Amino acid sequence: MALFITGGAGFIGSAFIRTWIERYPAETVINFDKLTYAGNLDNVAEAARHPTYRFIHGDICDAEALRAAIPDGCDAIVHFAAESHVDRSILSAREFILTNVLGTQVLLDVAREKGVRRFLHISTDEVGGSLPEGRFFREDDPLVPSSPYAASKAAAEHLVRAAAHTFGLDAVITRTSNNYGPYQFPEKLIPLALTNALENRPIPVYGDGQQVRDWIHVDDNCAALRVVLEKGQPGATYHIGGRSPLPNRTVLLTLLDLLGKPASLLTEVADRLGHDRRYAVDCSRIERELGWRPQIPFVEGLAQTIAWYREHPTWVARARSGEYRQYYARMYGAL
Ligand code: NAD
Ligand code: DAU
Repeated sequence: MALFITGGAGFIGSAFIRTWIERYPAETVINFDKLTYAGNLDNVAEAARHPTYRFIHGDICDAEALRAAIPDGCDAIVHFAAESHVDRSILSAREFILTNVLGTQVLLDVAREKGVRRFLHISTDEVGGSLPEGRFFREDDPLVPSSPYAASKAAAEHLVRAAAHTFGLDAVITRTSNNYGPYQFPEKLIPLALTNALENRPIPVYGDGQQVRDWIHVDDNCAALRVVLEKGQPGATYHIGGRSPLPNRTVLLTLLDLLGKPASLLTEVADRLGHDRRYAVDCSRIERELGWRPQIPFVEGLAQTIAWYREHPTWVARARSGEYRQYYARMYGAL
């Protein structure tokens, strides 16, 4: 299978590439990434040594660059590329609309032109909005996103479904809950808290810290994505959840406990604007129809993640300082 991955230098895309190459070393993998602040080629350094892997620096809003990069006979596009951080979308939504909405449409158009056989679109549980206790977001529920990020991801999904309906594109959508694991940029809750705690720095808790997220290890998510890519029904949407719904404060106290650090590092700060209280995906469809289930218990996955960050201080320092960007600017021109 020849795979074209967008956003493969980011957190989940790079994990997908690593785990795909491990299983299918003979298959072509092209990683097309703009290398924004979140794109870090350190994340795919091992894959880069592999003969069937190729990196192409480019923007999904650029149709010409996509035409040149997507090979004839491409079996599938796995579309991870996005602006992904909610707080940044609250500060400015512009890049979210450009990449997540316009970029997705440009990619869909070129995928069709090129006759790509399957389009796997990576979406998020956030498109279902905040849910009251006891309710779960199902695949056929209406989309009610609340942040600019979630709204841009909902718009992207509509465009993918429109391409499937209007042009018969074989598109599949996944909506995943909160991922954690190695190589996650330290702006998201777990890597931010972890790297701060390792240096005994305060950990910001937005509002009362009782917001609930369903945590899934990135390797479990990648296993689900492989199953959907290979066996998902054309036009279908699959929810992928970790079955680990936890309030933020509980996540942070568990993290501090595993690290042997005091709870006094938790520091309540002003709440995120429009903060969604609870996400909860019903992931019974993928379990029932495709036989996938999350395998990594949260505390085990968190302990493994802590070990990885402890063992990779250079990755953390380069990610935090933005040093990796200066290096890649020399290789690929101004970023
Ligand atoms: P990330 O921010 O770590 O990585 C995004 C990648 O996309 C980066 O490598 C970046 O350089 C690249 N990119 C951004 N704009 C681009 C453009 N215009 N053209 C080409 N490349 C571009 O994101 P992530 O956490 O790995 O998330 C990957 C996908 O999964 C996103 O679509 C996100 O919405 C979705 N998702 C993430 C989570 C999560 O918990 N992280 C959960 C559900 C869904
Ligand atoms: O649910 C899936 C989504 O999960 C993905 O679509 C997004 O790309 C991903 O960023 C993530 O969004 P969240 O907003 O849930 O993740 P974040 O790590 O930013 O925050 C998790 C929770 O922790 C949220 O309730 C806000 C809170 N938080 C976050 C940070 C960064 C804090 O309390 N303090 C913090 O410093």
